[in-house]
Amino acid sequence: MDAESNDSQYAGTLRAALADLLVEQGAIHDDRIATAFRLVPRHLFVPLVPLEIAYADDVVLMKRDASGVAISSVSQPTVVALMLEQADVRPGHRVLEIGSGGYNAALLSELVGPDGEVTTIDIDLDVTIRARETLDAAGYPDVRVLRTDGEFGDPAGAPYDRIIVTVTAWDIAPAWMEQLAPGGRIVVPLRFRAQTRSIGFDLLDAESSGHSLESRSMVVCGFVNMQGAGAAYERWVPLHGGLVSLSFDEDQESEPVPPERVLDQPKASAWSGVLMNREEPLSDLDLWLASTLPGFCVLSAEPRALKKRIVAPVPRWGASAMASRNSLGYLTSRPAADPDYVELGANAHGPAAQDFVQLLVDQVRVWNENLRGGKGPTLRVDPASLPPDQLPPGFHLRTRHSHLTLIW
Ligand SMILES: C[S@@+](CC[C@H](N)C(=O)[O-])C[C@H]1O[C@@H](n2cnc3c(N)ncnc32)[C@H](O)[C@@H]1O
Repeated sequence: MDAESNDSQYAGTLRAALADLLVEQGAIHDDRIATAFRLVPRHLFVPLVPLEIAYADDVVLMKRDASGVAISSVSQPTVVALMLEQADVRPGHRVLEIGSGGYNAALLSELVGPDGEVTTIDIDLDVTIRARETLDAAGYPDVRVLRTDGEFGDPAGAPYDRIIVTVTAWDIAPAWMEQLAPGGRIVVPLRFRAQTRSIGFDLLDAESSGHSLESRSMVVCGFVNMQGAGAAYERWVPLHGGLVSLSFDEDQESEPVPPERVLDQPKASAWSGVLMNREEPLSDLDLWLASTLPGFCVLSAEPRALKKRIVAPVPRWGASAMASRNSLGYLTSRPAADPDYVELGANAHGPAAQDFVQLLVDQVRVWNENLRGGKGPTLRVDPASLPPDQLPPGFHLRTRHSHLTLIW
């Protein structure tokens, strides 16, 4: 047996193991998606890394910008699988992917079959050249690859049954709504209130609602940021010499922020009595706090800030927080009697510290008593042209093109 066939046998073994892992871990439920993962040679889309890395459940970084920020990658298989589950792609579908790496487009091509069609678009010429070459090499010459700004979709190829966005978006671009076929679905990593979730949206009946979408599923995820016309401004507020930072969104530009040394002020703490398993996701609680707390933002801290106990946020990628012009409060936790559990609480600094910790723990308790373990909120997207008095009741956010309403 020659080296090449040995190599491809080994690649096949690793590929099967990855598909098994994704099924075992619950990322894949649909057999057709598992089959696609068993068929598509991921290593051909990430040719510069060893086979073991190509078939690890990890993102493979492909390009950074001049300042070192990641701008292109081949996504983590778990995230790819979860998004394909959300998309529910059927044989014969016409699918538009925004953000190309080649790999996901090949999986989509397997799912739509010979009667369907996949178009993948990317803003970056290096990426589209690589995607074209690797898709051809892997046996997917029918996938259309275009270089264009995904904000405008692909009007010439519309309508699409599915639009899958694989880059963080701050809004639903009007073009995506217009290019979606009746009964269509958009899956998009949408960032709002400094948190990103891959959301599967269905187009509502146009007769009754114009162009509106309603979420069917939400999964916490992380992606590189959208460039081009849909790029948005992320507001990062450094505190304590940059060891701690607060993250806000574009529409929160005028929200007041506390002084840089607010964390030097005495700390107030309060405990909620609410226990969480250490592994339990906090994503619904974070959304509830985002919906109810004034000055909501996300606090993140450098390891040095944790070590020096400058802050002690709940140990997740970022902690729900609230800020005003003189005070800052955030979600924290402490060990519970059972070592698998922690108790949720709040810390705050500044003149409003007592009020902030009370507000935070009150809302943790409201969530615990009324919402915990439920189906989570629905997110509705309506065009900005819709008069606000016609919006559904809920927590409202205004983005460039849309009204977002979180309905609990
Ligand atoms: C995470 S990668 C895509 C991964 C890919 N779907 C895969 O198969 O693994 C995100 C891509 O989005 C692209 N991108 C960023 N902004 C874009 C825009 N406005 N329109 C189209 N593509 C964009 C980046 O160039 C990058 O290649």
